[in-house]
Amino acid sequence: MTKLTENPFKFGDPVQGDYYYPRPELSSAVRQFLENQVHVVLMGPRRFGKTSFMLDLFSQLEGSGYTCLLVDIFNVTSHRDFLHQFLRALRRKKSLKGKLKEWGKRLGRLVPQLSLDFDNYTGQPTLGLSLGQLADQDVKTAIQDLLDELTGLGRRVIVALDEFQQISQLDDKGWLEATVRSHFQKLPNVSFLFTGSRKSLISEMLNDPARPLYRSCQTIEFPSFGHDFSDWVVERFATVSIPCSTEAVDHLRVLVQDTPNYVQMVCFHLVAQARPKVEINDVEEVLDTVARQNAYAYQTLLNSLTLAQQRALRLAANEKQSLFQKEMLVKYEISSAPALHNSIKALKGKGILDEEGTGKGKVLFDDPLFAYWLRMSFPM
Ligand SMILES: Nc1ncnc2c1ncn2[C@@H]1O[C@H](COP(=O)(O)OP(=O)(O)OP(=O)(O)O)[C@@H](O)[C@H]1O
Ligand SMILES: [Mg+2]
Repeated sequence: MTKLTENPFKFGDPVQGDYYYPRPELSSAVRQFLENQVHVVLMGPRRFGKTSFMLDLFSQLEGSGYTCLLVDIFNVTSHRDFLHQFLRALRRKKSLKGKLKEWGKRLGRLVPQLSLDFDNYTGQPTLGLSLGQLADQDVKTAIQDLLDELTGLGRRVIVALDEFQQISQLDDKGWLEATVRSHFQKLPNVSFLFTGSRKSLISEMLNDPARPLYRSCQTIEFPSFGHDFSDWVVERFATVSIPCSTEAVDHLRVLVQDTPNYVQMVCFHLVAQARPKVEINDVEEVLDTVARQNAYAYQTLLNSLTLAQQRALRLAANEKQSLFQKEMLVKYEISSAPALHNSIKALKGKGILDEEGTGKGKVLFDDPLFAYWLRMSFPM
């Protein structure tokens, strides 16, 4: 049987190996801090490759004798969810099986209601069920105890909380934030690596003197790729004998706010459609199609917003800067600068927009495809 040629592009899930374009400078910067016991917050937009980066970094660090644990807390809504995700991360690591068992026994004595059968449970349902019966106080005890135990996972331990801004969203008066913070001192051989995509939430956590994590971590901005990434994409096309112009890739990167996930997605479709070559118009055609496929979801999202917010979004999608200038407000029928400010604030609260790294009067779309669709649907 002849094997179909594999598509050299992948999107959606974290990537590794040939599908991953390395980020050596970022790796060594982050490593330096973690190795010196400095906790790091890695901040970058959604779908920028944060998880892929961490997986790559962890495989390097494990090679040098570190024990690394990656906990994904993106969808965590409660302490129980948090505990659950932590246990899942531990369970995924075969090497920690013994430790997990020991801990289960000890915790069973601490919180008698917690009757986790660590020998038997293999599937999540059992675990979910037993956790489901726990009172919040017991869950808190379990979380504290679990964090205490991190120090025993290995000689040098690195714990990553992926999408960690989520801990600030729990309705717990900052308990989890404070608990994590208090473990910074308690765990001398553990470094934490936090990643997050909601910039405004993260800066509130780190820059407000009243918050537990105030200035406790080194912040690093997750950088966009340089021009060499376009060359890499062209080379990936070459592996399936499709000539692709660098200009086309550069153009694509601008259209999708330099989000690697969407670069790979569009390229995936270009290969799947067996285009004989890739130029700027090919890229645009595919992006149009993909954006149109999402129209229903985008329309629904728009309908959930006020008219003022919808206008603010059109403005943000079409204009790169100087959003607050008089002419802009007039052009987009926005009543005043403070009104625009309020709309943008509300849109940030909903996670639709986020702050731009540098410039004032600039915003970033959480989903650049949504911005593309808005430009397509409401051209100005
Ligand atoms: N270093 C990289 N080289 C090539 N492609 C990458 C790289 N990093 C990310 N990508 C692309 O982005 C996609 C998403 O990657 P990943 O899940 O790591 O991002 P993320 O920032 O964690 O996303 P999310 O915000 O959804 O958690 C991958 O499927 C891949 O297409
Ligand atoms: Mg991720």
